[in-house]
Amino acid sequence: MEHPTTQPSQHSRRTFLFKLALLANGAVGAVLAVPILGYILGPVFKRGRSYEYWIPLGFLHQFPEGETRLAHFHNPDGSPADGQTRTLPCWVRHIKQNQFQVFAINCAHMGCPVHWFPQSKLFMCPCHGGVYYQDGARAAGPPPRGLFEYKYKIVGDRLMIRAGQLPTLATHASIAAPGSSPCQG
Ligand code: FES
Repeated sequence: MEHPTTQPSQHSRRTFLFKLALLANGAVGAVLAVPILGYILGPVFKRGRSYEYWIPLGFLHQFPEGETRLAHFHNPDGSPADGQTRTLPCWVRHIKQNQFQVFAINCAHMGCPVHWFPQSKLFMCPCHGGVYYQDGARAAGPPPRGLFEYKYKIVGDRLMIRAGQLPTLATHASIAAPGSSPCQG
């Protein structure tokens, strides 16, 4: 039986093509891996940063002393592609001087947006009749606790909140009793 003989030039060409194919496969794999890894790991790194963000809520003069006003901020976890949904509302209560309370707009029962009624000085939830006092403490209805509060601080003439740190029972949730001191970061 006669074995085919391989010329050295053919062997080196095959080796070269094999290495070229490996290189091309590696390049394609890397191109595909970057967005996939970015998709998987992106939220981890993004959340780690946004959790620490202090977001400007507005100038102090926008929140007159003794009043509760609606304010908006950009969700630090969002992107421009989110459009209007990136803008989130919250309630700002200016107690006196540098004392504020910043409430999440969502009811502590099932998350419906609560409304502020200055005449009665109550937050009311349209969904199941939850009612809160002006300091966010639960007054009546099914909510098991008071409104969630954001940490805040004053920088210059601006009110800032830690918006990336979602107010939950595990973070800065508090059941404020009437007349209790406000939360401050
Ligand atoms: Fe507010 Fe149920 S969601 S009372």
